[in-house]
Amino acid sequence: MAPILTQFGQQMSHLTGVRAIMKDIIETLQSGQSAEFINLSAGNPVILPEVEQLWRDCTADLLASSDYGEVVCRYGSSRGYEPLIDAISTDFNQRYGLSLKPENILITPGSQSLYFLAANSFGGYTTEGQLKEIILPLSPDYTGYGGVSLYPEAVRAYQPTLEVDTAAHRFKYRPDFSQLTITEQTGFVLFSRPCNPTGNVLSDDEVKRIATLAANVPVFIDSAYAPPFPALNFTEMTPVLAPNVVHGISLSKAGLPGERVGIAIGDAATIRILESFQTNLCIHSSRYGQAIAAKAIASGALAEISKTAIRPHYQQKFAVIESTLDETMPDVPWYLHRAEGSIFAWLWLQDLPMDDQAFYQALKQYGVIIVPGSPFFPGLRNDWEHKHQCFRISLTDTAERIEIAIRRLANLTEEVYGQG
Ligand SMILES: Cc1ncc(COP(=O)(O)O)c(C=O)c1O
Repeated sequence: MAPILTQFGQQMSHLTGVRAIMKDIIETLQSGQSAEFINLSAGNPVILPEVEQLWRDCTADLLASSDYGEVVCRYGSSRGYEPLIDAISTDFNQRYGLSLKPENILITPGSQSLYFLAANSFGGYTTEGQLKEIILPLSPDYTGYGGVSLYPEAVRAYQPTLEVDTAAHRFKYRPDFSQLTITEQTGFVLFSRPCNPTGNVLSDDEVKRIATLAANVPVFIDSAYAPPFPALNFTEMTPVLAPNVVHGISLSKAGLPGERVGIAIGDAATIRILESFQTNLCIHSSRYGQAIAAKAIASGALAEISKTAIRPHYQQKFAVIESTLDETMPDVPWYLHRAEGSIFAWLWLQDLPMDDQAFYQALKQYGVIIVPGSPFFPGLRNDWEHKHQCFRISLTDTAERIEIAIRRLANLTEEVYGQG
């Protein structure tokens, strides 16, 4: 059967951004030679034994408690499971000197859904037919933002400036405040900090400047990698919680992606709008995941394990990529983004004689899969050659295999620049 699709049906039945590449990767891995590939494309976090044990212990506690039936056998509040909301407000109030109340918090089924709720509440067409834009102040950013709006034309991203250390082969993106404009057409602002795919962390000052520029609209800070959990920041950073800021937390990189727990913290009026949208969409997030998260947050164990196990794990992997690139890359203009956070490294091959998709295909011939960078520029309308010269490398494989993969990547780099 081929049902006639609506405009939204068309839009949502297509895979956007990196999901389309993932389809190619899955087909490659299923092609029979999967054992031979080193797959550095994965966004799935590593199962760390200490982290798995924490979730196992919280589950055992839940099973043994009288709350079990209440958690899994009954519907609950759309805002979220009360003990989780209490655990978050207590943690954030103590940690950051805030005075959050339950009405400042919403639990969503994963944080991706939070950005969908926001994108379609504050972005898109108003009842008067005016297009409200979703502003991504620094491109590249999370590829998922390309698919969150029912109106893709609403997403507008800004090209950054580049700080390049040529001798050290390192670089860093900065928001270009000479270009960034927030107008009456802006619906809301959205960015990830630390950033997937680059690992960039906007400085506290940059964030405050963006929040001030956007004083009359919500600013969603996607904190999927931020402290206090999963604390995948390798540089100092503090959550910026201004009145118009909605802080989006995810427990996925803290070892719970299967349970789909996202958390929004923001002003009560904004949270209320998102909560109603969520009630219409799916009633509420799974309560089992929320209940074990409540225990891990209330005891302080999640914040602790984030600092002692999750962060060092990925930081060590990043060090392997850095040292292997430094040792093996040929004398070409290659630049690694500064290691400031996330579970990825971001490599820029300036003046690459082929585009990122062709390099990705060529590297597959060497038995290595990385992710071509071009899908990570959703909403950027400028024709910028840099978009086709970058790659995302996941830190989720073993150190040994990462090292082998980077050596092969260096060989291919030498070959393609030699031919170019
Ligand atoms: C920056 C960023 N935001 C949001 C998400 C979605 O996470 P969740 O599993 O909470 O929906 C991801 C997932 O990789 C991410 O990297």
